Amino acid sequence: MKVIKEISAIQDISDYYKCTGKKVALVPTMGYLHKGHVSLMLKAKDENEIVVVSIFVNPTQFGKGEDFDKYPRDFARDYHICEKAGVDYIFSPDTEEMYGKNQFTKVTVSDISEKLEGKFRPGHFEGVATVVIKLLNAVKPVRIYLGQKDAQQNVIIKKMIDDLNIDTEAVICETMREESGLAMSSRNAYLTKDEKNKAAVLSFILSEGKRMILSENVNDIQEIQRQVTKVLKERAPGFELQYYEVTDNNLLNEIRDLSGYEGEILISLAAKTGNTRLIDNIIFQKKKTPA
Ligand code: PAF
Repeated sequence: MKVIKEISAIQDISDYYKCTGKKVALVPTMGYLHKGHVSLMLKAKDENEIVVVSIFVNPTQFGKGEDFDKYPRDFARDYHICEKAGVDYIFSPDTEEMYGKNQFTKVTVSDISEKLEGKFRPGHFEGVATVVIKLLNAVKPVRIYLGQKDAQQNVIIKKMIDDLNIDTEAVICETMREESGLAMSSRNAYLTKDEKNKAAVLSFILSEGKRMILSENVNDIQEIQRQVTKVLKERAPGFELQYYEVTDNNLLNEIRDLSGYEGEILISLAAKTGNTRLIDNIIFQKKKTPA
């Protein structure tokens, strides 16, 4: 496994493999890798000849007062995880290599970026879209592997790829969870043991939402929000639900008429405890409720 720090070097490497008919895949990360990342690496390895993992804590996707400075970083640990997973290259540019001194260009995927997370993290998805297109132009992968936990990010990246005719396929992989149901995330490192135990309720209230919609035919989203908020308050006092939204999984439009809706439903949430903010979601199919 090699560590590459320069954009021109990873571009040359990618071009070389393209010439030899080998498929290059990208697993983009901000490091502090966990089993969720490993599952992406293994799937990428299974489906492509060459796997590049990018490790770059992207400053432009953090807002003022967010956790950029304290975001967990441990390159030596990440290196071993990648090596064990059979990764071929780590691409880990520094900020100057990535953005130079004077970058004027930003990529905005309008509308979708302002919903859900966008309401709480203005500018976040502009930072994500901009760095992802830069990573795609650097690594030039045939496929990019993303975890379902970042559902809105995935919708935005897929839309950007489509809108800008980028020749890369986005492969979305299942969220990896702790035994308790808690979605794996680098930010779980901020949680105390007690907070981690309580945070398991987040995946529970997502499953509850799904159950209410599919098994109980509850069509009133506010009623679902009331019930899950109550459960959260009882089981995880100290957690504040920032949003719990029921949308389609395409343009993230709010579903107003649940009974008449047929297709993929995304329930997403964000919750805060202390200074730690967690997100999670569930995606499932729904048929029209018979009259
Ligand atoms: O999901 C992440 O870790 C980041 O948002 C990404 C896609 C690596 C861009 O910085």
